[in-house]
Amino acid sequence: MVKIAPSLLSANFNNLEHDIRKIERAGADYLHLDIMDGKFVPNITFGPVVVKGLSAISMLPLDVHLMIYEPEKFVEEFTKIGAHIVTIQYEATPHLDRVLNLVKDLGAIPSVAINPATPIECIYPVLPIVKQVLIMSVNPGFGGQTFIPYCLEKIKALKKYIQDNNLQVDIEVDGGVTEANAKQIVAAGVEVLVAGSAVFGSTDINKTIAVLKAL
Ligand code: DX5
Ligand code: ZN
Repeated sequence: MVKIAPSLLSANFNNLEHDIRKIERAGADYLHLDIMDGKFVPNITFGPVVVKGLSAISMLPLDVHLMIYEPEKFVEEFTKIGAHIVTIQYEATPHLDRVLNLVKDLGAIPSVAINPATPIECIYPVLPIVKQVLIMSVNPGFGGQTFIPYCLEKIKALKKYIQDNNLQVDIEVDGGVTEANAKQIVAAGVEVLVAGSAVFGSTDINKTIAVLKAL
C-alpha cells in the first residue's frame, strides 16, 4: 500500500496541532516538513525550533525535507530533535555522499531529493547509501503548483534502475499530487506520496487520504 506524507506547508498555521491530529486520524504515514532557507529556494518556512515543537506533538514520523544550502550544518540538529527521515537536495551540496552518510551515522534515514530539471542518473551513485529518493515534481519552494508531466519518466527510469540493481530504496514524489493524477504516479512506481494542498485543502481529509492510500 502506498504511504501518504501530508506536507504541513498547506496546513493551517494558526492551529497546527489540530491539523496534525486530523491527518493522524485519517491514516497518514509521515508528517512531511518543508524546510526552506530563502536561498536554495525562493521562500522561507521554519527551522529547528518549530520542528522540535512539532516533534513533541506529532505521533507520525517526521519526514524532513531540507531545501537549504549547506545542509551539513543542520543535519545533526534535525536528527537530535526527532527527524525520522532527512532528505538532502542533490543540488544543494557539492558533498552529497558525505552529508548522506552523516545522516545515516546520526541514526536517521537518509534520503536524497532531485529537482525536476536534474537528470535522474545524477543520483544513481548514492542509491546504496539512501533508503528513499524524493522526486520533486514541481520546482521546490511553494505548495499548490502543478505536477510537471516529464517527472513521470524519471520515476519510471529510477524504478527500473532500483529493480535491476536489487536496491532497497523507496521512491517518494513531491509536488502537484492530486486525487486525479495520483493513480498514474503510483503506477509509475512510487511508494510514498507527498501531498500538501490535496490533503489540507480537501473538504474531507479522511476520504482524500483513503482514496490516495487505496491506489
Ligand atoms: C514544495 C514542497 C512540497 C509542497 C507540496 O517545494 O517540497 O512538499 O508542500 O505541496 P503540494 O502538494 O500542494 O504541491
Ligand atoms: Zn517537500
